[in-house]
Amino acid sequence: MQRIAFIGAGGITFAHKKAFLQHPSQLSVAGIADPNLDAATKLAAELGTGIPVFADHKEMLASIKDRMDGVVITTPHFLHLPMASDVLNSGLPALVEKPVCCNTEELRLLHSLEKPGAFVQAGQMQRFGREENWIKDWLGSDKFGDPLLFNLDIYQNIEGDTGGREGFWILDKRRAGGGIVISVAIHILDLLRYWLDDDFVEVYAWGRLDPPFTHGDESTVAATLTTRRGVMGTLNCSYTTKRCPYSQRTMLFGTHGTLYQHMDQPVAAVQACGTHGTAITWWGKIDGHWQPPVASVTIRQQHGFDWFVLKEPFPYLSAGPSNRKHLDVVREELFEEIYQIEIQDPA
Ligand SMILES: NC(=O)c1ccc[n+]([C@@H]2O[C@H](COP(=O)([O-])OP(=O)(O)OC[C@H]3O[C@@H](n4cnc5c(N)ncnc54)[C@H](O)[C@@H]3O)[C@@H](O)[C@H]2O)c1
Repeated sequence: MQRIAFIGAGGITFAHKKAFLQHPSQLSVAGIADPNLDAATKLAAELGTGIPVFADHKEMLASIKDRMDGVVITTPHFLHLPMASDVLNSGLPALVEKPVCCNTEELRLLHSLEKPGAFVQAGQMQRFGREENWIKDWLGSDKFGDPLLFNLDIYQNIEGDTGGREGFWILDKRRAGGGIVISVAIHILDLLRYWLDDDFVEVYAWGRLDPPFTHGDESTVAATLTTRRGVMGTLNCSYTTKRCPYSQRTMLFGTHGTLYQHMDQPVAAVQACGTHGTAITWWGKIDGHWQPPVASVTIRQQHGFDWFVLKEPFPYLSAGPSNRKHLDVVREELFEEIYQIEIQDPA
């Protein structure tokens, strides 16, 4: 039985808590820390009985550290570094929601605190999806061939996220670390790295700074990117799209085939068009049903984390070691470059 504590009891815990509710014999909640004690108490009641709640994560670590095997950190981005540092310094591992930190300098600092048994796993949960891992295998096959070109799209309507709350932390670069790229496009950028076992080495980005975002928090970005292997492509992402029919879409072109992944229900689909353009695969039909991606990937992510805590084999592990490598790949300066949001001359 893994005893996991939460720091942060906000919106995204709806996805994390499903892992605990579905696997009560493997996972238990050791405690919950959030200065919003109402939110912490509500989450505690949903996850079990007698779960202690704390207004301060340091108080939680001091009181029940010996009854914890790991910590899930789901707080605003600027708190990730200090909180994850406190967890690592307590000798415990932390699963930190994306983005692990606000910039690469913070990430290096956090990385330097890691030691055996006290590590950070990035909350890049899309790496843990069944669909995503099926795609990774397919992209490595001769049906797809060598990757040449990608088109990445990811969009959200910020009004839906904030519910009209003014001054919400994600609107402010000083608390979010950045805008649409660090908060949302990070998913699709990370997935491409994972799928291709590659990383971005060159980025040209153009951005918009539309309200309600403040202090240089970019709302929209168009970028061209090149990877170490020479794969090139585009990223389009925005927080200010209205009534967009989908939120995430990838096209990836190889020497033998094309991948099209469209993430949203009710038309979520993977089409993998093989060597002669005739073999079209709809993942939903192979699987017989479609599971909501957020729930299933977060549950697998939690299991990946538990595997690292336990250091025992786990079926979904294929994504585990690569997920840890995330710390290294983010270090490639992509985000520092993209945040400059300057028009650059490709020449
Ligand atoms: N993986 C995904 O798809 C996904 C989706 C949404 C959010 N997220 C990430 O989850 C994290 C949290 O986002 P959210 O949407 O849940 O935000 P949120 O604002 O809904 O929740 C944040 C919580 O942190 C709490 N908090 C603030 N200060 C704290 C402190 N000092 N100690 C403990 N708790 C504190 C707040 O009271 C709040 O309950 C972010 O990193 C975000 O990017 C990930």
